Amino acid sequence: MATKTQTKGAGTFTLAGLGEGANRRVVEILQERLAALVDLSLVLKHIHWNVVGPAFIAVHEMLDPQVDAARLMADETAERIAAMGASPNGNAGALVALRSWDDYDLMRAETLEHLAALDIVYRGLLTSHRAAMDEVGDLDPVTEDMLIGQLRQLEQFHWFVRAHVETREGALRTEGETTERGAARRVRGNGTATRRTAAAKA
Ligand SMILES: [Fe+2]
Repeated sequence: MATKTQTKGAGTFTLAGLGEGANRRVVEILQERLAALVDLSLVLKHIHWNVVGPAFIAVHEMLDPQVDAARLMADETAERIAAMGASPNGNAGALVALRSWDDYDLMRAETLEHLAALDIVYRGLLTSHRAAMDEVGDLDPVTEDMLIGQLRQLEQFHWFVRAHVETREGALRTEGETTERGAARRVRGNGTATRRTAAAKA
């Protein structure tokens, strides 16, 4: 039987026991996270298709499990929105309207260039995902739990990517860069230069 809090207007409802204002705000936050996760899955596939260079197959194959996981997270997020009585918008127009970032900036590029740029992508996504988790924590711990699980997996993927642009001292080769193009420029030709130096010494 539907309770008063579960029925509102034309078939919309809120989670039993969760206030209407909290429900509305959590849904807003999740709709942004849905756009961010769909965008991440698109960017990862874009890189999967556009990466070139000596380590092509390693990077090409590393990215597909990340695509699959991002899609599952988007699905989980959309279904949480539906469970909360709202309508998840998975259309491309909604994604573009909601996002506060630009399209990924590289087309065909070498492995290190894409990984340096992808490090920037993950940093942006993880910062906004963690902010969402913090805000949701005060409103709905059940949704917070979902975001915590997603963050744990996304942070591991970020490490997989970042490790490619770290030095043995643990510094980031792209330290201080905030744009995908800038990060890619910093590592451009890095592998080639190393190989040339080694060849010259031989
Ligand atoms: Fe593929």
